Amino acid sequence: MRISVIGSGYVGLVTGMGFVKLGNEVIFVDVDENKIQMINNAQPPIYEEGLEELMREFKGKYHATKNYREAILNSDVTFIAVGTPSREDGSIDLKYVKAASKSIGEALREKTGHHVIVVKSTVLPGTTEEVVKPILEETSGKKAFKDFGLAMNPEFLREGVALKDFLNPDRIVIGTQDERTRKVLEELYAPINAPKLFTDIKTAEMIKYASNAFLATKISFANEIGNICKKLGIDSWKVFEGVGLDHRISPYFFRTGIGWGGSCFPKDTRALIRKAEELGEDPIIIKAAVEVNERQPLKLIELLKKHVPDLKGRKVGLLGLAFKPNTDDVRETRAYIVVKKLLEEGANVIAYDPQGMGNFKRFYPDVGERIKYASTPEEVLNSTDVILIVTEWPQFEELDYSGRIVIDGRRVRAAERTARVYEGVCW
Ligand code: UDX
Repeated sequence: MRISVIGSGYVGLVTGMGFVKLGNEVIFVDVDENKIQMINNAQPPIYEEGLEELMREFKGKYHATKNYREAILNSDVTFIAVGTPSREDGSIDLKYVKAASKSIGEALREKTGHHVIVVKSTVLPGTTEEVVKPILEETSGKKAFKDFGLAMNPEFLREGVALKDFLNPDRIVIGTQDERTRKVLEELYAPINAPKLFTDIKTAEMIKYASNAFLATKISFANEIGNICKKLGIDSWKVFEGVGLDHRISPYFFRTGIGWGGSCFPKDTRALIRKAEELGEDPIIIKAAVEVNERQPLKLIELLKKHVPDLKGRKVGLLGLAFKPNTDDVRETRAYIVVKKLLEEGANVIAYDPQGMGNFKRFYPDVGERIKYASTPEEVLNSTDVILIVTEWPQFEELDYSGRIVIDGRRVRAAERTARVYEGVCW
């Protein structure tokens, strides 16, 4: 099939290249000249495992352009994969979704054959039918489900393993109401062996939010129990190994520590809370999950102060800045909260992250420009005896922490084994 993908961020690029691998031709649309050029040179504008190889292998089967018209007229299906960031008050900002819908609609006006538009971006229940559909209809002069197809198909991609997740998902959720659109998407996803769930559009939208809110809550719940375990001298990792063996619960996503970050959980839980409140609901469980997650990084400082009561002028080493290993993404990283607090306490911070240092400095200039960056993790270990572990990069397992006080937010076993003083957040 010929596919166009609007927005070449993590989701758009991975989804598009996934479809290329499945034998389709893909046109990426983006407003960023630089990204377009990189994609056309088979260079991924983001770091994601396996993406560069895939782009090189399938060069010629995809290209990128600024031109919506070209993309829509030369494809059968269009995925909207633009960002849905948070506004200041936590509510969802739909400006990119609206702009994309308008441009697609304008191009659709000229289209003669059938075309299916699929919302891939994470949008609150009701958005596809109440925002995207009217814009598409107005700008194209055509009717949804009659003149063109419309569907909502959420993604469940984890950064770092996004391509694997695309090709091997736990499930594929497709929300639509017309038979023709359903057939097109069934055919498109036919090569992927996974349960396919067909729903109406707003159910598909809600499945994404409920999944993220549940997973975020699962971790916050584990962290809450973990904090109690810590006080009782119990290892919460063992506790959740035991809890997870119950097949109704499952062992995954039970790693206790300093909490969750990234581009999805924080943004989507906030958006869902705002939406619920707009509807007159008070979603106390999700709110509590967010609150636990805001407090959790401060546990690291609390534990540090047990061993080093006065941080003024003290050099503190930080291992990890990315929100999780194997990514350069620092969005909503717990490291920000940790560094901010350390600077407030008057500490001098030296940090190392294999991929995230540039982004950390750029994204958080208020703290990012006030700390030092090391070129190796050894440099951090050699410059101070006080170490905080924020991200569990595999290379931190190779280090020798002897002689150091280590406060660990992620459970790096080498540190646990070798540090002079070792404290884990929840164990
Ligand atoms: C997540 C969802 O997994 C994915 O389905 C959705 O589409 C987007 O959001 P991602 O943000 O890439 O993916 O990262 P994920 O691996 O899920 O981790 C999220 C955060 O939770 C990280 O900060 C991670 O360190 C933390 N985490 C994860 C824990 O603290 N404990 C765990 O057990 C698992």
